[in-house]
Amino acid sequence: MVDTARTQQPALPRLTVIGTGYLGATHAVCMAVLGYEVLGVDVDASKIERLSSGEVPFFEPGLPELLAKALESGRLRFTTSLAEAGEFGDVHFICVGTPQQQGSYAADMTYVDSAVGELARHLHRRTLVVGKSTVPVGTAARLTELVRRVAPAGDQVELAWNPEFLREGYAVDDTMSPDRLVFGVASEWAEGQLRAAFAPVVAQGTPVVVTDLTTAELVKVAANSFLATKISYINAMAEVCEATGADVHDLADALAYDNRIGGRFLKPGLGFGGGCLPKDIRAFTHRAEELGVGQAVAFLREVDGINRRRRARTVDLVRELAGGDLSGMRVAALGAAFKPNSDDIRDAPALDVASTLQAAGAKVRVFDPAALDNARRAHPELGYGDSALDVARDADVVVLLTEWAEFREIDPHVMGAVVAHRRIVDGRHALEPKQWRAAGWEYRALGRP
Ligand SMILES: NC(=O)c1ccc[n+]([C@@H]2O[C@H](COP(=O)([O-])OP(=O)(O)OC[C@H]3O[C@@H](n4cnc5c(N)ncnc54)[C@H](O)[C@@H]3O)[C@@H](O)[C@H]2O)c1
Repeated sequence: MVDTARTQQPALPRLTVIGTGYLGATHAVCMAVLGYEVLGVDVDASKIERLSSGEVPFFEPGLPELLAKALESGRLRFTTSLAEAGEFGDVHFICVGTPQQQGSYAADMTYVDSAVGELARHLHRRTLVVGKSTVPVGTAARLTELVRRVAPAGDQVELAWNPEFLREGYAVDDTMSPDRLVFGVASEWAEGQLRAAFAPVVAQGTPVVVTDLTTAELVKVAANSFLATKISYINAMAEVCEATGADVHDLADALAYDNRIGGRFLKPGLGFGGGCLPKDIRAFTHRAEELGVGQAVAFLREVDGINRRRRARTVDLVRELAGGDLSGMRVAALGAAFKPNSDDIRDAPALDVASTLQAAGAKVRVFDPAALDNARRAHPELGYGDSALDVARDADVVVLLTEWAEFREIDPHVMGAVVAHRRIVDGRHALEPKQWRAAGWEYRALGRP
């Protein structure tokens, strides 16, 4: 078979993707589908084995089909060897994790430092190392020094930063057709390499912001801080609504019609979680304090605080519906993933609420369409079931924690027939209260009368 993508664009650089988790695996697969030769690298040998055999180790709609296509093209391979990566790649994308440090708000940089330091030992020619991970501002400058000290090619190796904005659940589309590309570079050569590494995406007319390394690092945390603030803003209004008897759902609707405000990320409810927003805003406040500008982003502490209070308040609502005491109450928890269309349970509000309810004496059974295996491993103390109706059987209270489409479509009459008591807390404002009340349910949602 003629490999058209490669023959049409023979000058495409060879790419490596270091760290093949949610971000890296998606990036590696999509770049191979776009016509690049790609080598994916991870320290986790079982992950590499699964990807090599065509299995995506996490839930991401559309990615398994594209992985099959990429492997079949012969352009995508996986390895655990950074020596092989150094030999192979012209442009190396760093996609390893930057989780929150234990006992601190700071980002844990050990994975980035080790991946870049180890890769550098194998860089013998002019190459570009491109950070995609979300990092504290100043990281690229620090890594530039590290790489030049360690790499046999010395200052022939350059650093660039290309922050990633993909959303789990839409990761393929966001990679193939991003809203924008940000290239943080220190030279025209680096910009040229990045333009070559994203040629098909740039050719679609995707806006490209070319800037310095520091600004590129900041763009990502600034974007996540803004989104987190918007969510916590409407949840702060929900707190006021609860005290006044107003309806935050109608309030959000009315605000959304204002083009200057817009309705996206203005959904009241249980708030944000996952492997990005919470740890990114914390790492940002930590870094800003180190830089002496902590005051400028001190409001992010409150954004975080409002978000955490939503979890506690959801537990309160379940307790109220249960008559004030959770001991022995059977609770059906709908959802475990931090958001729908993902199996990611990192800092998932749903599991936080479920385990707090359980610790308060309730008997919680959880169902999630994609995240059950991950939830079981992380929270063996909770009960689990095979479907929403299964966990709802004989429940005293149902609580909706992740707004999967299939939960929105539940027929309140059908679920009403299996529960012990028709009581539901809609933690995500995902249901139609009139419909549930008409079916005899006691319906509660944060910030709604
Ligand atoms: N997940 C998202 O939606 C998303 C979106 C934008 C940005 N980000 C950022 O991207 C980065 C990665 O996030 P993720 O969600 O993909 O994390 P992840 O935990 O799913 O993946 C990280 C991978 O890196 C591997 N790894 C760790 N050390 C390594 C090393 N030295 N060499 C090679 N591989 C190594 C791990 O085994 C793991 O497979 C983070 O900084 C995150 O903030 C994530």
